[in-house]
Amino acid sequence: MNVKRIIKRGMNEILRYMPIKKYVNTPVLYGELLKGRTALITGGSSGIGYEIARVFLRNGANVIITGRNQKKLDDISSELKKEFNDSKVIGIQLDNCNVSEMNSVFDALITNISSPIDIFVNNAGVLNKTSFGGATESDWDLVMNSDLKGPYFLTQIVAKYMIDRKIEGNILNVSSSSAVRPGLNSYHFAKNSMMNFTKGLAKELIGYGIVVNGIAPGPTATSMISNDDNINRPTSPAKRYTTPEEIANLATILVSSISRMVVGDTLFATGGCGNITFDD
Ligand SMILES: NC(=O)c1ccc[n+]([C@@H]2O[C@H](COP(=O)([O-])OP(=O)(O)OC[C@H]3O[C@@H](n4cnc5c(N)ncnc54)[C@H](OP(=O)(O)O)[C@@H]3O)[C@@H](O)[C@H]2O)c1
Repeated sequence: MNVKRIIKRGMNEILRYMPIKKYVNTPVLYGELLKGRTALITGGSSGIGYEIARVFLRNGANVIITGRNQKKLDDISSELKKEFNDSKVIGIQLDNCNVSEMNSVFDALITNISSPIDIFVNNAGVLNKTSFGGATESDWDLVMNSDLKGPYFLTQIVAKYMIDRKIEGNILNVSSSSAVRPGLNSYHFAKNSMMNFTKGLAKELIGYGIVVNGIAPGPTATSMISNDDNINRPTSPAKRYTTPEEIANLATILVSSISRMVVGDTLFATGGCGNITFDD
């Protein structure tokens, strides 16, 4: 690393811990946009998926969240049930990497719910730990299986379920600002493919009344990339991280009837990262 880069990085660290200039008033949707609907959200046990579950609940939906750890899902489900004072939350263990188990887990799930799933959010994912030059096969496989292969096969199951039951629902794929960055690692490739999948799937399913879109968060304050509550990010055009609530609010609008004519789009919510700058 050259001296200029070291100084720049040091300055950014200092700036990050300066007080936030503007008060961030995150608008929180509260209403009936999703009244009577049932959403399956993968990776709902933390970060963006958890906030999507909360805002969906706040807007009248039932939610089913998935993850790899049943204990974590049980704890989060109880938290959500307490907050929303009812029992419209189910947490089921479903690992995106276990494609061979998806059919049986999904079949068991649908026999246990009282209203049909009409929203599916492909949110679960992991970030790459290695990149070009030092990439490892196991890291490549983990990212590709969690962020692309798993979502693809699970979507195949959910889409068939919706088509068979004539459910005119919504599918929302969570991509990333990394989707449009010059591709160097598994995460870039997986998220770029998710955007392309969003288009293909939208074309395939719109004839059945199923609306498919994507959302591409930029650097978002979750445990995936940040270990504290400080949302300063001096290198972003907007100078801060996106919050999970901001992504969840937009996700709610995208799966609601407001957006039924938005088809095959991926909405960038990045504070400018990725879509107007590449090296932030
Ligand atoms: N944070 C960001 O800056 C950012 C930016 C752009 C896009 N995104 C995307 O947003 C999505 C959510 O990320 P996040 O920031 O909320 O991360 P997070 O806080 O780490 O949450 C990830 C969620 O996915 C679950 N998960 C991970 N691997 C899984 C697998 N194989 N099968 C099922 N569930 C799995 C995790 O639960 P368990 O670990 O218990 O399984 C957790 O609930 C991801 O697709 C990510 O790529 C994030």
